[in-house]
Amino acid sequence: MLVVDKVSKQFKDKKQIVKAVDYLSLTIPEGHVVGLIGENGAGKTTLLRMLCTLIAPDEGKITLDGNDIYTHKEQVRKRMGVLFGSETGLYSRLTARENLEYFGSLYGMTSHEIKNQIEMLAKRFGMRKYLDRKVEGFSKGMMQKVAIARTLIHNPDIVLFDEPTTGLDITSSNIFREFILQFKKEGKTIIFSTHIMDEIAQLCDDVIMMHKGQMVYEGGLEELYEQENSRDLNYLFTSKIVRGDLYV
Ligand SMILES: Nc1ncnc2c1ncn2[C@@H]1O[C@H](COP(=O)(O)OP(=O)(O)OP(=O)(O)O)[C@@H](O)[C@H]1O
Ligand SMILES: [Mg+2]
Repeated sequence: MLVVDKVSKQFKDKKQIVKAVDYLSLTIPEGHVVGLIGENGAGKTTLLRMLCTLIAPDEGKITLDGNDIYTHKEQVRKRMGVLFGSETGLYSRLTARENLEYFGSLYGMTSHEIKNQIEMLAKRFGMRKYLDRKVEGFSKGMMQKVAIARTLIHNPDIVLFDEPTTGLDITSSNIFREFILQFKKEGKTIIFSTHIMDEIAQLCDDVIMMHKGQMVYEGGLEELYEQENSRDLNYLFTSKIVRGDLYV
């Protein structure tokens, strides 16, 4: 279980101070698929960057199964797969396979483990045909699939995706969605940000709504529907922001 406890993060932009995440508390239970929504600049990426130990909060604490994630950085990183939007992190001069092998080796996997994992991922994402082609020249969707495979190479039990389907075509988005459902069946925890409400509605157990760094809603999707007597996420999101329901 991931617990965010009264976490704040601000950035100093010349003379201005931006409160990217403002006294945020939330709990992400194991095995849940959690969708993160909010307007541009709401603090989603900043929250995800803190969850995966890329940046530290100014205040507050984040724990994974009771342990502070910053004092157990290495263990936490081994358990997590992380993908930030279109920052694929791939080396264009290497083939897809070579990229995956490289990232696998960074996690200390044996070549046998890497081979099996690549085989499984290539099959799952339909990447076999281009596994041995250089990444430069790949289409956006091909690249994104390899990038997703890269985040999964070490078989993490928690995955964080920041806008994973932005720019993907319908087929690639569907592959991603199927992957989420499959991953969920395996009991993994998935947290992803998106601006596509359908993805939340179709995939998520829980939703986190952020607005200007603060929490507007955190909890079960069904509970939200019941509480607000509507299943229209677009409407719910807008009305909550307009009403300014702040769960702090
Ligand atoms: N490294 C940084 N330096 C300065 N300001 C930053 C930095 N990172 C984030 N911010 C600011 O923090 C706020 C939250 O940004 P963040 O990227 O977390 O939002 P977001 O919800 O991911 O938005 P989007 O939907 O556009 O991706 C914004 O005002 C942003 O300008
Ligand atoms: Mg973002």
